[in-house]
Amino acid sequence: MDLKTAITTRRSVRRFKDKPVSMDLIRKLVESATYAPTNCNQQLWKFVAVTDPGLKERLVKEAFSSTIVRRAPVVLVACYDGWSYKEAIQGASFAAQNLLLEATALGLGVLSMNSFGNEEVIKRMLDIPDGYVINCFILVGYPDEVYKTTPVVSRRPVDEVLSINKFGMRHATHRSYDSRRWTVPDLVDFQRYYCRKTFLGKRMDVMDDLERELVKRVLQDLQGKAVLDLFSYDGAYLDLFPKAELTSVNLDPETERYVAAAAKDASIKGIEFEQYDGIAGSYDAATMMLKAERLPPELRKGSFSLAHEHLKQGGTFVIVSRVPNLFFTLFYRLIIGMFGDDVRRTGIYAFWGPYRPVRAAMLRRELRSAGFIIQSSRKHFIIPAFFNQALQMFIQFRKSGGSSYLHRDKHVNILTRILEGIIGLQGLRALPFGSVVVLRARKP
Ligand SMILES: Cc1cc2nc3c(=O)[nH]c(=O)nc-3n(C[C@H](O)[C@H](O)[C@H](O)COP(=O)(O)O)c2cc1C
Repeated sequence: MDLKTAITTRRSVRRFKDKPVSMDLIRKLVESATYAPTNCNQQLWKFVAVTDPGLKERLVKEAFSSTIVRRAPVVLVACYDGWSYKEAIQGASFAAQNLLLEATALGLGVLSMNSFGNEEVIKRMLDIPDGYVINCFILVGYPDEVYKTTPVVSRRPVDEVLSINKFGMRHATHRSYDSRRWTVPDLVDFQRYYCRKTFLGKRMDVMDDLERELVKRVLQDLQGKAVLDLFSYDGAYLDLFPKAELTSVNLDPETERYVAAAAKDASIKGIEFEQYDGIAGSYDAATMMLKAERLPPELRKGSFSLAHEHLKQGGTFVIVSRVPNLFFTLFYRLIIGMFGDDVRRTGIYAFWGPYRPVRAAMLRRELRSAGFIIQSSRKHFIIPAFFNQALQMFIQFRKSGGSSYLHRDKHVNILTRILEGIIGLQGLRALPFGSVVVLRARKP
């Protein structure tokens, strides 16, 4: 394989065939790594190849490594003598990239991974001396068949990342939780790159089973109708729609492709697509599932007017949105207080992006000013149901020393049990002061 092909076809592989990788191949990979540049040619890198399944299990169970580790035939722990931390990271990273390209050229699948778990525990487990930095884990195996058909994730065009003599490029100046600070281009950029970290159609949203149940129940009267779904985003809710003529509205063609892949994955047939600024036709119903809180206000209001314009007379607009209540607001403040007002600092960014719960009264006002009549407005879940997921992520984050929050075994302790119990007790019934609102509005 020539270099350019290896560079452009390398991709992160997270599922492997059940086929061992020989130590000869691993030696070849590491040999290529040793040709990387290094500070004063010191070559301070070391690789520990973990092949023993029992040891991989201990990495997951005791060091809280990502559970993907279990699936890889070989886990290379890439370390570097960290006497000069910045140089250690640079040297180890150049070496890792050589290794990734060599693996690709040899037909192997590789994943460089930061969610390796608790560094101190791993060092003790593998006898890695003090002073060494674990740069990353590199999982090695033969790629699962699925990788033959899924395309590589989006790449930014060169003009977006290269400027001459001066940093003169457009870039997002913030990644605030506050959706009022986001522009539509920022949102599109976020959807196109941050969410697209694995493969098209991968569902990224965090929601509890009870919330999915609620959405499913809310959508059930749309059976057989022509429905316009505003901002299907990662397609996470499409499988909850009853059989309907579904048209998905998205902000840009890349997101459309993503939703199409998610629909295919969920075996949803006949889905149509419209771009936000080019909708034609008229519909019996419109839906906005857990998106109102993620949109800059102008876009939210604009999309309400658009729904009104494209609904038939008497058509319904159904919105499910998270809204602030005591518990949600406390959570929201706590997250910002602990991690700062930057969505990238918590796992939440990948799924939510900007995220600012909007009061139900405000949504009703905006719907009325777009020309709708409010038919019903009911709240659910005083304790937000997704707290179950948030708690799981937080426990994983703590136990893994801050390196991982996804791909975990379920944590069970007294707190997770109590929380699950309380959330389960609330059930799906409408409750005052809930954290999720279900709004139904009609075009008169
Ligand atoms: C510093 C770094 C950390 C990463 N950590 C993880 C990780 O913990 N888990 C994972 O599944 N992928 C991880 N990746 C892989 C990225 O998600 C992936 O490289 C990126 O989405 C681009 O996709 P591609 O590698 O298929 O081109 C990491 C990559 C880098 C460079």
